[in-house]
Amino acid sequence: MIIAIDGPAASGKSTSARQVAMQLDFLYLDTGAMYRCVTLAFIEQGISLTDKNAVESLLNSIDVNLTEENGEPTAYLNGENVTSRIRSAEVTSAVSPVSAIPEVRETMVRLQRKIALHSDCVMEGRDIGSVVFPDADVKFFLVADSEVRAKRRQDDLRKLGEEKSVEELVKDIEARDVYDSTREHSPLQKAEDAIEIDTSQMTIDEQVSKMIEIVNQKREKTKNK
Ligand code: DC
Repeated sequence: MIIAIDGPAASGKSTSARQVAMQLDFLYLDTGAMYRCVTLAFIEQGISLTDKNAVESLLNSIDVNLTEENGEPTAYLNGENVTSRIRSAEVTSAVSPVSAIPEVRETMVRLQRKIALHSDCVMEGRDIGSVVFPDADVKFFLVADSEVRAKRRQDDLRKLGEEKSVEELVKDIEARDVYDSTREHSPLQKAEDAIEIDTSQMTIDEQVSKMIEIVNQKREKTKNK
């Protein structure tokens, strides 16, 4: 079974996706973290986004591995633990243009499909229900007000010791929404059959119970077929 969770930045995807995966005992895959790892590799290696050869050689040699350590999602880039670094403001501001490169998307989508081949999976991102798994068993599309999302992002950044105002974060988030929704390849868009949930006024527990309830209904329906 594949559960696709898409939506704009800080709409509550990661926290609810992780908990849904835990409760169902499914694999959890944060595809945004994959694009963040690739972005960090671009920054570290000083690669220009328009240098086709350099992009190709980076993608041929890159090793992105998302795993769990001590119950926490952990990201490795070429064998190095980069879990905190991929959340930095530097990576966040560079990730949209990097993830708009078609070759980057092709490589990541291939990897995402491969990972989900042998296990039930909750996969979160921007294009999971529309492109990566158009036949996903259940598709959610989470949305939330920009200000609520900015406050969530501010809390995340504070945990990393970085400080940004809510006003600045609203601007960042809205700019990233525009970039992610208008890019040519696999833009952020709600799949026609996705269930939209507005998480602005919801607690994490409420989001998770609602999603689990919908998944269980789907499982019942499939069982009775
Ligand atoms: O979910 P996030 O904020 O960590 O995602 C970081 C960026 O990665 C986001 O701005 C767009 C990109 N992304 C994407 O293009 N496709 C996905 N499936 C997931 C993320």
